[in-house]
Amino acid sequence: MLKGLNTKIIGKRLLYLKETSSTNDEAKVLVRSGEKEGTVIIAETQTKGRGRLSRKWVSPAGGLYLSVILRPYVGAQRLQFISFLASLAIARSLKGFTKLDVNLKWPNDIVIGNKKVGGILCESVKGAVIIGIGVNLNTNLAVFPQNLKKQITSVKFELGEIINPEHYMKRLFEELEHLYNEFLHKKDHSIVNEWKSLCSTLGRSVDIQLEQGKVRGIAWSMGDRGQLLLLGLNGKITKVYQSDVIKVDVTE
Ligand code: BTN
Repeated sequence: MLKGLNTKIIGKRLLYLKETSSTNDEAKVLVRSGEKEGTVIIAETQTKGRGRLSRKWVSPAGGLYLSVILRPYVGAQRLQFISFLASLAIARSLKGFTKLDVNLKWPNDIVIGNKKVGGILCESVKGAVIIGIGVNLNTNLAVFPQNLKKQITSVKFELGEIINPEHYMKRLFEELEHLYNEFLHKKDHSIVNEWKSLCSTLGRSVDIQLEQGKVRGIAWSMGDRGQLLLLGLNGKITKVYQSDVIKVDVTE
């Protein structure tokens, strides 16, 4: 239990693990046995941490690795939106807690400058949604492989000091619950507006790798379901949905 936690559901039940394969996998098992909404599974390290599209999520000690179980009774077409509210909750809580200039890279990376500090892996199972959250909180960057070092950072590195994970989690869960309630009350519009204000991808030239090939253009804006409105070289706007995206490279 987190001291002073001001939520009604998220984080009311916390399961701490020293090590696991993946907190999302632990959450899936719990969902199948009927675990209630709001339960959070946290691990100090993961041996098979997963990112989007089955990428590996390197999970050494010092990082924050957790999964939140939600049971939103909304239509399937709105479920995709949950990753947007979750990434916004991380950005808001990190900004508020550390005063660092934290931004969002479309579709769901949390960045400081152009370096990734956190990510989201949302998975659906048996009508529930599992939000997997990874944040390089007190991570020592030296432990990452050389190729990753250029692309990632940690809060500890940026701040030059260690932050209390429990105090940060309290803030994260409160922001997450607040935004989740907005989503349940169909306030997607205000979530998208705030996302846009923190999105460092907008206005930049991007190369987007889709399954069917590459699309290129300027990241113009975001639609009401979080889709990227891409201004192509032909002057036409195309809607790009996060579920179709393999990779986004910001080129200018
Ligand atoms: C991404 O950016 O590709 C998403 C990374 C999500 C990582 C988190 S860590 C906790 C949870 N368990 C996992 O195996 N993955 C998510």
